[in-house]
Amino acid sequence: MRGVEVSVLIPAAGNGERLGLGPKAFLRVGGKTLLEWSLLAFQEAAEVLVALPPGAEPPPGLRAVFLEGGRTRQESVARLLEAASLPLVLVHDVARPFASPALAERVLEAARATGAAVPVLPVPDTLVRPEGEAYGEVVPREALRLVQTPQGFFTALLREAHAYARKRGLAATDDAQLVRALGYPVALVEGERTAFKITYPEDLPLAEAVAKAWSG
Ligand code: CTP
Ligand code: MG
Repeated sequence: MRGVEVSVLIPAAGNGERLGLGPKAFLRVGGKTLLEWSLLAFQEAAEVLVALPPGAEPPPGLRAVFLEGGRTRQESVARLLEAASLPLVLVHDVARPFASPALAERVLEAARATGAAVPVLPVPDTLVRPEGEAYGEVVPREALRLVQTPQGFFTALLREAHAYARKRGLAATDDAQLVRALGYPVALVEGERTAFKITYPEDLPLAEAVAKAWSG
């Protein structure tokens, strides 16, 4: 991704309520903050923009422009998009600190070719629709994928998708679904197990282990 003309947008304005340790951006794992880990995949990007929780002090020494996030992830991304100056964007959650440069490259390549691309993984577990407290119908997992970040888009397309969502009152947990709601296809590329999302306290020992492996 050397000298690559892409704006990397990092929504990092969440409060990490399920984790219960404050905003994830500033949480330390293996001697680095999750924000520092997250930025490692994008060192060659021409522009990096980070949305922080309102009132948060921008951390020193990072090659990034900081701005204030919104009340939801979607609002934070919308603000980042306004500030983006390049025709391609990669949107990446700070909650996924261990995305590799290869993953970023793969997504960017597909986004450049198609306008919108996201990494996905097969579902390893059996899936079931519970019937009350009981085991119900099994959902064929072969038909499903887990969606990750970074997600790549033509900047103009994602701006249009966010504007459309705002007008329609659509709320989404990622950006690809807004592009699809607008009627545009989103390409799938192969995701990465290590780019898992840190959500619950139980995810932290795993993060520590990956951090150790990556440091060594
Ligand atoms: N995010 C954001 N602005 C918000 C809410 C979330 O930029 N108002 C970001 C988070 O920082 C995170 C990503 O969206 O990188 C995915 O959100 P999630 O994993 O839910 O993180 P949090 O919202 O921080 O956690 P929680 O929902 O447990 O409070
Ligand atoms: Mg959240």
